[in-house]
Amino acid sequence: MGKYVITGGSRLSGEVPISGAKNAVLPVLAALPLLKEASICNVPFLSDVANTIEILENIGVKITTEGSVIRSETGIVRPVIDNSLSCKMRSSVLFLGSLLSACGEAEISYPGGCALGARPVDMHIWAMKMLGAKINTDDNVIRCEAKRLKGANLHLPIQSVGVTENIILASAMAEGTTIIDNAAREPEICNLCDFLNMCGADITGHGTKRIKIKGVSELHPCSVAIIPDRIEAATYMIMAAATGGELFIKNVNTDHMRVICAMLRKTGCIIKEYNKTIYIEAPQRIYSIPYISTAPYPYFPTDVQPQIMALMSTAQGQSVIKENIFSGRYKHGDELNKMGADITIKDNRTFITTGVRSLVGANVNAWDLRGGAALIIAGLCAEGITVVNNKEYVERGYESPVSKIRNIGGKIRAL
Ligand code: EPU
Repeated sequence: MGKYVITGGSRLSGEVPISGAKNAVLPVLAALPLLKEASICNVPFLSDVANTIEILENIGVKITTEGSVIRSETGIVRPVIDNSLSCKMRSSVLFLGSLLSACGEAEISYPGGCALGARPVDMHIWAMKMLGAKINTDDNVIRCEAKRLKGANLHLPIQSVGVTENIILASAMAEGTTIIDNAAREPEICNLCDFLNMCGADITGHGTKRIKIKGVSELHPCSVAIIPDRIEAATYMIMAAATGGELFIKNVNTDHMRVICAMLRKTGCIIKEYNKTIYIEAPQRIYSIPYISTAPYPYFPTDVQPQIMALMSTAQGQSVIKENIFSGRYKHGDELNKMGADITIKDNRTFITTGVRSLVGANVNAWDLRGGAALIIAGLCAEGITVVNNKEYVERGYESPVSKIRNIGGKIRAL
């Protein structure tokens, strides 16, 4: 595993161009087996994207890449994803819906992904069953079969992003109508639905808790642009806030950034929103936010919880952060403490952070993607040198982090 070496203390300033969203491109790529041809632009260059392309090529989808554009051609699909590929990424489970719909069968080894605590796939399996699939889960492999899936009414017990996407992928060409109640409302789901609708699907209600999918008999070739990555944008905004910096965050969808802007304004940052650009100017030392709690969109995202914790660790005052989505998204707290932070972790879900004047450089470990981003933020504002091990986690979801950070004055290198 590689590492980042960061020399802290530089005030960041300049412009950061935001890439296409990881969590939008992955479900769009999972839709490709449903389409003879497609083209996707604004694709970020990430290891999760490279792994998904490997899955696609392995099942028989021909992919060509030119810069940030991916083109696909689908021939005969082999609906099997082996353990060597599915273990690399949680989102490999999204192929369940598209492969079942495209081939009438699917076989996927249980998916891997960042270790964020228990991440069961029970709701994915339940949803496919509800749409008429026969399922067998022996030997750590999910085997599904259905000649043609049938629309159904599904009420999700938890607002799950992946399950909402899987149902959409499975039912776009199913017989009859599917209703998802208590659907997740993330903009990445809307990106998928807009794409499928441009291909001839009939999906309405995305962006609300009730999505209606009328099955169509075929989808036609089309192209789509991936939306900007709101989590990457939030990460750079927090970097500016943590270093007393000043940044223009370019190519963003400001509507998707409302909760982050509101949160960072509370810390004393000045934030201005322009068309596709956000300007952030941070005071020398920010104020703490007394209580932050994660929840599905449009509320404060779990994918920014580690980064905001890094920020709160040098704020003036105390902050209680509550993680409500994942039971195991807490390890960055211990790593931040190695840098001199004062964070008490209760029941792995509640973090009491008392701001210290300054963090100090240390040798720390990234245990997952966003935890790694939090440690980079901490390293940039700490005194001295920080080594963040396991940089590969960060590369799963951030495009060119080293050059983007260096361009705004951060002292970071990858080893
Ligand atoms: N859950 C179940 N059973 C299931 C599926 C989910 O209990 O069958 C639970 C999860 O364990 C979790 C909750 O439902 O407690 C919500 O998880 P969700 O299904 O929404 O997560 P996901 O689809 O696996 C996506 C993102 C994550 C992001 C979450 C929440 C992608 C590829 N991944 O995961 O992104 O944290 O939604 O917003 O879209 C990241 O980018 O760092 C990341 C982890």
